[in-house]
Amino acid sequence: METIIKGDQLEKIKHFLQQGYYDSAVKESCAILEEILKRIYRQAMSELPIEDRTALMEGESKIGKGTKSYVKFGFGELVGLYNRTRLLERWGKYTGSNMGIIRSISLDYIVELRNRLTHEQASMTEDVSQSEAQLVYDCLLNWLSFIGYKDMSAGVEKAFSPSGTVKPTAKTGESAYKHMKKEIHSGYDPSIKLERRRLKRQAAYSEQQDAESFTYAVERIGRREKLIGLDIGCADGYVTERRFLPEYGFEKVIGIDRNKTLIEKVRAEDHGIFHYHDMDLESRDFEDEMEDMMEEEGIEAFDVIFSALTLHHLKNPVRLLMKLRKYLRKGGAIIIRGVDDGGMMAYDDGGLVEEILDDCLRQVSVSDRYHGRKFFPWLRGIGFSDVKMLYNFDDTTGMDTEERIDFFHYYFDFRQSYTRQAVDREPDNPQFIEDHERMLANLDKMEELFLKPDFYFAALTVSAIAIK
Ligand SMILES: C[S@@+](CC[C@H](N)C(=O)[O-])C[C@H]1O[C@@H](n2cnc3c(N)ncnc32)[C@H](O)[C@@H]1O
Repeated sequence: METIIKGDQLEKIKHFLQQGYYDSAVKESCAILEEILKRIYRQAMSELPIEDRTALMEGESKIGKGTKSYVKFGFGELVGLYNRTRLLERWGKYTGSNMGIIRSISLDYIVELRNRLTHEQASMTEDVSQSEAQLVYDCLLNWLSFIGYKDMSAGVEKAFSPSGTVKPTAKTGESAYKHMKKEIHSGYDPSIKLERRRLKRQAAYSEQQDAESFTYAVERIGRREKLIGLDIGCADGYVTERRFLPEYGFEKVIGIDRNKTLIEKVRAEDHGIFHYHDMDLESRDFEDEMEDMMEEEGIEAFDVIFSALTLHHLKNPVRLLMKLRKYLRKGGAIIIRGVDDGGMMAYDDGGLVEEILDDCLRQVSVSDRYHGRKFFPWLRGIGFSDVKMLYNFDDTTGMDTEERIDFFHYYFDFRQSYTRQAVDREPDNPQFIEDHERMLANLDKMEELFLKPDFYFAALTVSAIAIK
């Protein structure tokens, strides 16, 4: 079989990247990715069990409207075909491989980028950025390394045989994944009323865990007066004012958040020792703005820096943690709290939780839902040697119906917003509509399960406290 990729094609893309021809790099990478997707599909159609092949044919016929074969599909249609037919999942089951990094990278993001490029070129506006082009190239390398890049046809065949799957090297896999995560923009908007109510309920769940973190932090600081606090991603201060309690000895507490509406609202009222500032944690001027704010507030350094459920919305949480470390007094404490979807357990849900999580992960707007496990490495990595971890499982045991429903809303409600955002962006995209409808139907099923007294669900909250 002929080889469809030559080394010089990659050289060409590398050259485009070096020379700043980012849109060409994206187009070239997508063209190769398109070819890979077609090859794999063709192989799947001859290798997979009959029921899988039937599903593939149905998907192909839907997307091609019964007239166009996959051979004529563009990149977006191919990605749609893979999503709709869950081809990689089928392939994974057939070969006994979990497909690793390949399955965790959403190609939807690249489709979006590719669409944007076509659109923007037409109007001669903004180009693709270097990091976006690099992201697509990394993704391509990942797929190539997964299927064996020198001879793609042989690679595809080999990867399809149950024992012969070629795994990506940890290095390429991880770096591309990190790159991908870095580019993910969370579509989260806390000013939405429902979401704010959910956050308030959520705040009650973690009250005990935060009390433990604050008590430990204040004990380690060894002083219960004139403490200065900082809350990162404070929203409207609801949690801030219930965590930085006066009995710990706080004299002044600053809350920062980029949501202008919320910050303006709280700034218009008197909140005593709590002062709020509108600031973007990812802005290039963050350090200047922090230093101006500290000067204005007469603050030299902070004793306690706290951040709940915020770092996973950022493109580069470690960079922020590194900056924050500077503003922490020697002997001061940083407390971070988040969740980790890997710590979820459910029985008997028949795989529903996994399906909901998978559907979320494929969305471009999703935040990093597996961040709890990263706290320790993040903090150690930036020089904190004294890090304590705290864990809490909330579960349905001992909950009455109302509490179980509340618990369901806390853990699942927001997930439909990811699929809804895709529909909002492209209302006519049949794939997005289908994803969203499936998500709503699955959430309904999940809610019904929570109503059953013998259904078990548990979820993990993670906190880390580091002392400088
Ligand atoms: C899930 S909410 C958590 C709010 C609060 N800490 C709590 O525990 O309920 C995340 C908050 O992070 C804020 N946020 C996200 N990205 C931000 C950024 N780049 N700069 C500042 N705030 C940001 C959002 O506006 C939002 O208020």
